[in-house]
Amino acid sequence: MPIMNWDQTLDIGVPAMNADHRCILDAMNEIFDAHAAGQEGDSINRLVTRLGAICMRHFADEEVFMESVGYPGLNSHKLIHKKLLEDFSGHAAAIKSAGGKANEDFFGFLKRWLVAHIKGIDIKYAEHANDSLSAANG
Ligand SMILES: [Fe+2]
Ligand SMILES: [Fe+2]
Repeated sequence: MPIMNWDQTLDIGVPAMNADHRCILDAMNEIFDAHAAGQEGDSINRLVTRLGAICMRHFADEEVFMESVGYPGLNSHKLIHKKLLEDFSGHAAAIKSAGGKANEDFFGFLKRWLVAHIKGIDIKYAEHANDSLSAANG
């Protein structure tokens, strides 16, 4: 059973970024399922590392996108991404030192940040991008 399913409330109206967010969600669910199936050790560590890499790439792509649409909140959004990656690294290190055993704390963190970040933070650049687009077309 996945930890979280994609639903319309996560749609920010920017297709490329939606696709990235789904990819993050899938990678998250993969770890959750492996953990629920009793996996620990290298297989979990690898999945966690992979999720970190997916997030890092997404944040970089998202920052390029925000810059391309002249989003004024770019710098603070970048700082939020940086903090998220730091927190993620802390969780990944804790899982590693527990012998590749994921924990509720980690899943709670993932779930909270994904939802809060997409709905509260990402939505702002998306609205800016879509407003500029309709202004340009209008
Ligand atoms: Fe973001
Ligand atoms: Fe995002």
